[in-house]
Amino acid sequence: MPRKIAAGNWKMNGLQADMVELSKLAADHASAKVDVLICPPATLIAGCKDLPFQIGGQDCHPHESGAHTGDISASMLADAGATAVLTGHSERRTDHGEMDADVAAKSKAAYAAGLKAVICIGETLTEREAGTTLNVIDTQLAGSIPDTATAANTVIAYEPVWAIGTGKVPTLEQIGEVHDHIRAKLAARFDDGADFSLLYGGSVKGSNAVEIFGVSNVDGALVGGASLKAADFSPIIHALEGTSL
Ligand code: PGA
Repeated sequence: MPRKIAAGNWKMNGLQADMVELSKLAADHASAKVDVLICPPATLIAGCKDLPFQIGGQDCHPHESGAHTGDISASMLADAGATAVLTGHSERRTDHGEMDADVAAKSKAAYAAGLKAVICIGETLTEREAGTTLNVIDTQLAGSIPDTATAANTVIAYEPVWAIGTGKVPTLEQIGEVHDHIRAKLAARFDDGADFSLLYGGSVKGSNAVEIFGVSNVDGALVGGASLKAADFSPIIHALEGTSL
């Protein structure tokens, strides 16, 4: 069975003072019935070591070390206390020109450092309106996921680019169509493809989490804006716990 995961992506937000939000979250969710993964900025990872959550980076370089000013390696993230890293987030693909091959290389670096890779994929609005969503997903799945991926080292996050940070959410049918498609592709390629956790991401909030978690092959969420405050993220964790009772 895929693990249920409530993941928070803080993006380029979060100072030491914001750690109080994670302390508040810990007070309510120290023994959550689902996996809670927080991806704070790299500067806060080491300070998260006493929290009862899994901690992830937001990106890593494909190499373990070297002359790459400003970059961070997967082994550095692991050394700071992370157990996971996001790869291929659409903001990395857009802002830094990351291609599927880069995402696969970063995911392999994550595995080598003992980190789980949360590989992000998703179509743009133009691609959706052109009716090419599933083709885009197929290309990203084929190019971004290394052959050495397993359900233990990889999570897939489906995040339609047009739903990220916009308040726009696909219909439940649209989410289900893509998640069922991803599941079928993973099952065809990997022996344990049925066990990969598939997260939906893009404008998930407490008010829509229950219905999204009811969609087939949705095993959790990757949450941006609504993960920054404990009061906003807590109902999403509760909603996911409600699906696994
Ligand atoms: P959002 O971001 O929840 O703010 O839409 C999701 C993400 O980018 O991971």
